[in-house]
Amino acid sequence: AARTRDDLRCPVVVIMGHVDTGKTKLLDKIRKTNVQEGEAGGITQQIGATYFEKKTLLAQTARLNETEKFDLTLPGMLVIDTPGHESFTNLRSRGSSLCDVAILVVDLMHGLEQQTIESLHMLRNRGTPFVVALNKVDRCYDWKTCKDSPIRDALKVQPEGTMQEFRSRASDAKLQLQEQGVNSNIYWEMGEDDWENSDFVPLVPTSAITGEGVQDILLLLCQISQRKLWRRLMWCANLQCTVLEVKAIDGLGMTVDLLVVNGYLREGDKAVFCTLDGPIVTEIRGLLTPPPSREMRIKSEYIHHKEIKGALGVKVIGNGLEKVMAGTPVLVVGPDDEVEDIKAEVMSDLTKLQEKLSTDKKGVMVQASTLGALEALLQFLREDTKPPIPVSAIGIGTIHKRDVTKISIMNEKGCPEYATILAFDVPVPREAREHAEEVNVRIFTADIIYHLFDQFTRFMEELTA
Ligand code: GTP
Ligand code: MG
Ligand code: NA
Repeated sequence: AARTRDDLRCPVVVIMGHVDTGKTKLLDKIRKTNVQEGEAGGITQQIGATYFEKKTLLAQTARLNETEKFDLTLPGMLVIDTPGHESFTNLRSRGSSLCDVAILVVDLMHGLEQQTIESLHMLRNRGTPFVVALNKVDRCYDWKTCKDSPIRDALKVQPEGTMQEFRSRASDAKLQLQEQGVNSNIYWEMGEDDWENSDFVPLVPTSAITGEGVQDILLLLCQISQRKLWRRLMWCANLQCTVLEVKAIDGLGMTVDLLVVNGYLREGDKAVFCTLDGPIVTEIRGLLTPPPSREMRIKSEYIHHKEIKGALGVKVIGNGLEKVMAGTPVLVVGPDDEVEDIKAEVMSDLTKLQEKLSTDKKGVMVQASTLGALEALLQFLREDTKPPIPVSAIGIGTIHKRDVTKISIMNEKGCPEYATILAFDVPVPREAREHAEEVNVRIFTADIIYHLFDQFTRFMEELTA
């Protein structure tokens, strides 16, 4: 069937921003749940997914839509929650690469913070449209709660002093965004031209606790989806699917959480996954989702399905999933397909990464915990470091003696500075460390990408000093 504007899929919305800006709380508000309070230390450590049905979107925007009169045609919305903590750059990178549109959450009391800026650059680099939630507006002094109301109605009843604080904080945020090269404005103050300009970012004041502005942000996302992203959102029968997480679940064994963007996934399908050791083909034995408006991360009453239609998040049960890599694509072998073709296609992202390696084969080795982290790291070394740091080899997971041997060749090639492994969030066993000392290989380790770069730059400076 032809793709049409009358048959849109759910937009995939990712929610990003610095730690504790209120990303999970905002979702809790829309879900009417309490996921955030159940998190260890109140910190999100995994990617999550929540599906909102059309009727939920209608109900939660009803009051604002009395005046906006927007004809909502989307079948629903799939929202991906990401961690804001600094050590989860890989998950933010994965999230930002999967979505159609994003919410960047800023704590109005704190302005732009480190991981907000990092998220901002990820979204920019990928050309992903986003809105900024200026969250915790209820913390402006003497805020008068207007539970769940459209934000303009709430602002109308605030005392003058509260409004002054709000305006001053909002304009600070605007300036800080400007410093990052982002033009923005409070969304109802944007002119026609601003809306036309795809680089202009709407700001939406919100409170995840008292709910002001939540109607606004939901309706705005629906409007952007239908008006600007409809081409991309026309539903398509070809399976488009990515691995979100790989994890063991009590009673189910190893499972993979997938984001099915387009097409169908069915029980019994012969699915092809990407691992570092090559592609694997396995039968889908179970398809599970949480109920609508519930978080996939929570072991709730999963619903079993025979068939899933994108866009949706789904937990898949099958054999041999242990080595599947998060962030990689998934395909299904159809009746007319050659298995070998499908395998090559599934592996192509990894193959492409390998192709990006330094062509003269001189450069450092980069080792990361996941493909997403590896991608983020390579992109960082290529684009955000001046001069770029050349990479000659990559790997995922634990560093072995053979990796050390491999990169020690740089010493013989006359570039000992590249006899270096940049290890992001991976174990380095003692044998590997000892071997590295013997063959003059440096191993820099860090849980934060920027720290790795700092270490390597300092080392290069010492060499050339
Ligand atoms: P990470 O996932 O760990 O990055 O944090 P997060 O962005 O998901 O923030 P979270 O939802 O965990 O909220 C952090 C803290 O801020 C919690 O104590 C929330 O109760 C509080 N909080 C979140 N949103 C608001 C808000 O709009 N107003 C007020 N007053 N507090 C808020
Ligand atoms: Mg969170
Ligand atoms: Na938090």
